[in-house]
Amino acid sequence: MCGIVGAWMTRAGMDDIADVLVEGLRTLEYRGYDSSGVGVVRSDPGAAPGAVRVARKMGRLENLEEALKGGALAGANVGVGHTRWATHGEPSDENAHPHTDGTEQIALVHNGIIENYLELRAELEAAGVVFQSETDTEVLTHLVGRRYATDGDLAGSLRAALRQVKGYYAVAVVGNRDGVTELVCARQGPPLCVAMFEDGVMLASDVLAVLPHTREVTYLSDGDLAVLSPGSVRVERIDGEAGEAVERVATLVDWDTEAANKGGYPHFMLKEIFEQSEVLGRAIHNRLLPTQGDVQFEGDGWSDPDLNGIGRVQILACGTALHAGIVARYLIEGLARIPVEVDFASEYRYCEPVVSPGTLAIAISQSGETADTLAAMRLARELGAQTLAICNVQGSTLTRDCQKTILTHAGPEIGVASTKAFTAQLIAAYLFALRLGRARRVLDEATGARMIEELRHLRPKLESLLTTEFSDSIRKIAERHVNQNGFLFLGRGVNYPIALEGALKLKEISYVHAEGYAAGEMKHGPIALIDPGLTTLVINTKGRVADKVRSGIEQVRARKGPVIVLGSDEGSWSLGDDVVKIPETSEWLSPLLHVVPLQLFAYHVADLKGCDIDKPRNLAKSVTVE
Ligand code: F6R
Repeated sequence: MCGIVGAWMTRAGMDDIADVLVEGLRTLEYRGYDSSGVGVVRSDPGAAPGAVRVARKMGRLENLEEALKGGALAGANVGVGHTRWATHGEPSDENAHPHTDGTEQIALVHNGIIENYLELRAELEAAGVVFQSETDTEVLTHLVGRRYATDGDLAGSLRAALRQVKGYYAVAVVGNRDGVTELVCARQGPPLCVAMFEDGVMLASDVLAVLPHTREVTYLSDGDLAVLSPGSVRVERIDGEAGEAVERVATLVDWDTEAANKGGYPHFMLKEIFEQSEVLGRAIHNRLLPTQGDVQFEGDGWSDPDLNGIGRVQILACGTALHAGIVARYLIEGLARIPVEVDFASEYRYCEPVVSPGTLAIAISQSGETADTLAAMRLARELGAQTLAICNVQGSTLTRDCQKTILTHAGPEIGVASTKAFTAQLIAAYLFALRLGRARRVLDEATGARMIEELRHLRPKLESLLTTEFSDSIRKIAERHVNQNGFLFLGRGVNYPIALEGALKLKEISYVHAEGYAAGEMKHGPIALIDPGLTTLVINTKGRVADKVRSGIEQVRARKGPVIVLGSDEGSWSLGDDVVKIPETSEWLSPLLHVVPLQLFAYHVADLKGCDIDKPRNLAKSVTVE
């Protein structure tokens, strides 16, 4: 959701911390982009030395940069910044963070939700506090500010305030009183990391903001409060005593700063689509054992007897990750013969789930911070399931809360619409299903070796789809369909979830109505939608169900619905108004090829419509509230 950054730099000549904060916010903008702001401790002519000053602007980060031009907040080396995804109160300058208590002593930024804010606000108003915004955050600001004004201890004031609030938060506050500056932060729910390096200290919602300064970061745990000052980061507990430090181990992040740049592409989404063959390379690196027809995962994996003890799998995820979960279901049931259920994480929590002995809960998440996924996984664990994270962010809450992790190695994904992270999740699912199948002797060595061979041959096939020519051919198709009223995506078997994913990609970035359906279900209802204004995209790969899908295409054509056919089934190619020929691979791996043209189709439709591809309306990349 929102992005938070804080920095205290001691570098010689550093006198405009706003530059560092804005640079950090740029990498966090994917977390929210309806307004942004910074707050710094500054010696201002005419103001008390150490006055806290803020600049806040509705809209994109460029608006804030404009407001800061000419060093509007220069003369400061410590401050906090925020990029917002509105929850309480519309996007506006007043509701943008940081918030102050009107005293020029503190500036506070917050990500999350204060659930009891109405009650607290009423109490504060009764005590004479006048609110400047509609946000829940301002309540927290006044609670901190009132205490700080009397005892001048920012960490203590934040601790006391947080003990009064109910909810989820990552919060950072900068304060100055009587010439003493303090920078503190705390976490309960949304992610927050801290870092110390040669010429400064930083805090941020995502390591991306810290990477230009250091690759060594420390993730805070829920309930942590950190006190930062030049040359020191001390972590304490919100419910602990002041000065009682707790140990947190730093992590070395293996991402580089380049990954957070567009690298010459017009959008992060296009760059990330084109990165997918490298992602495949990274996701299988050091994991294939061709001579044994098996795979291995780094770290402390499960032994064969452990894997044999798994009697049932529950997959928990949201959005695109859920679609990867549905593919995983086909893979695990097909290759390891274990029954699998896939649940929306947000539903699992409230449907009285049954966890029988031998259940493995697999939580799939790019960010590892999605609130619904974390809560569902924790519930599964409480009910007795073993837990496995399939996750892209090493050190994220999910990886720390699950017993085991398979890292997807997609690298940072900045485009709000998930692309390469999905591909990486599919590869992890394929590898895990293969490992399970081998451990349980459902797959013999020769079958395992063949599957590995197919995976190794996939890369050139994927690369053939990641070319400018192929992308241009999809754009031409997009041009012919861009003005349609709606889109129906059909797929069957392991490609049914790819139809769901194609529809999700299109609707989230181009705002066109699109539905994904199991191809065999079309005749049970959606067929009523077919008319010349609705384009149907049908995925049909060579394999067991190709004939059945073909007859579905005929049914659409008979009702004058335009059809785009996509896949390796040659028999379907003559049936489409437009055709996207996809190289042949095994049915299990075919989703990895089919998803690429669907990602490109969504991209080009959105581009032709002039939509903001990397920052679609109303969305945020990481949904850290329920
Ligand atoms: C779609 C998209 C979302 C996420 C979902 C889960 O393009 O990005 O649907 O897939 O919010 O996010 P993670 O994977 O971070 O748990």
